[in-house]
Amino acid sequence: MVQIGIIGAGRIGQVHMRGIASGVPNAVIRSLADPMISPEAEQLARSIGVSQIVSNYHDIIDDPKIDAILICSPTDLHAKISIEAIHAGKHVFCEKPVDHELARIAQVESALKSSGKNLKYQVGFNRRYDHNFRALRQAVLDGKIGDVQFVRVSSRDPKVPHAGFVQSSGGLFLDMMIHDLDMIRYLSGSEVVEVFARGTVLIDPAIGEAGDVDTATVSVTMANGALALIDNSRQAVYGYDQRAEVFGSKGCVQNGNDLPSTMVLSTVDGIVSEKPLWFFLERYMASYQAEVCSFVDSIVNDTDTEVGIADGRRTIQLALACKKSMDENRPVRIDEND
Ligand SMILES: NC(=O)c1ccc[n+]([C@@H]2O[C@H](COP(=O)([O-])OP(=O)(O)OC[C@H]3O[C@@H](n4cnc5c(N)ncnc54)[C@H](O)[C@@H]3O)[C@@H](O)[C@H]2O)c1
Repeated sequence: MVQIGIIGAGRIGQVHMRGIASGVPNAVIRSLADPMISPEAEQLARSIGVSQIVSNYHDIIDDPKIDAILICSPTDLHAKISIEAIHAGKHVFCEKPVDHELARIAQVESALKSSGKNLKYQVGFNRRYDHNFRALRQAVLDGKIGDVQFVRVSSRDPKVPHAGFVQSSGGLFLDMMIHDLDMIRYLSGSEVVEVFARGTVLIDPAIGEAGDVDTATVSVTMANGALALIDNSRQAVYGYDQRAEVFGSKGCVQNGNDLPSTMVLSTVDGIVSEKPLWFFLERYMASYQAEVCSFVDSIVNDTDTEVGIADGRRTIQLALACKKSMDENRPVRIDEND
């Protein structure tokens, strides 16, 4: 049994607690650390039988019985905790992003390389484990659409975050579009070579005053010659809109949103279906559990993690290039600073 310690019991920490408790084979949560744990999180931990709830995460890192650590703390602690956990010989699952700075991610990579142990490290790009996106990837892998020529990803949130979140999260490209940048790599099976991003403030002026954008597109050139397009909005009035399409030499594959039910109301006024599931906690719950299953499998079976530190580095490199492209109003090659 893989003994897990979770660091951070906020939104995503609780998602992983629920996911593991409701069925991740070969894994058990031994301890949870959060210096400002909410009564709700504490009650959840107790209800699922977490035996140790501590405030200092070093109690988890120093515990010889812990095999693996899930880092669910705020982003600015991810790299620091990763390095400490690796030095303590623990396998690590780190929520995205690993860090906002490439130099800090490089420190995590070198800690992994110099550990001398076969430690597993996975980054939380959960959408790769979502049933709809995985089906698209499988169709591409099976050759059903031939050579990939075009990828389109739309990712639109149902409600605007408060402006304070914008600053602490790193902004739209580093916090939100990072998932979509990973998705075009996953769906196309190719790397990004150039981005041309545009962003604007059309929804909430407070986001602009905080130095970010709430609406953005990026036009992408992939190494295999395919083109890709991502669009992001912080507010789609009809709900959380998460769709993609891959177009190729033999056809096209696309997915739709998950809905609360498949009910369709037909009347004289028109035909109406349900709105998409509300937000990421509802829409992606199964994928959060599946990614942790995959992480635990990699430990039990001694295989590589499906989403590693190189993916964590690459996506931040792309998000930073998008921001630069928008700020300088020009296409940016990913290797231009190499
Ligand atoms: N993969 C996804 O879809 C996804 C979704 C949401 C959040 N995230 C990522 O997860 C991370 C956490 O986001 P969240 O929304 O859960 O934030 P949150 O603010 O809800 O939770 C963070 C928790 O960490 C705790 N914390 C702060 N300092 C700590 C410390 N020193 N030790 C232990 N715990 C500490 C806080 O008290 C809080 O409970 C972020 O990096 C975010 O980018 C990923």
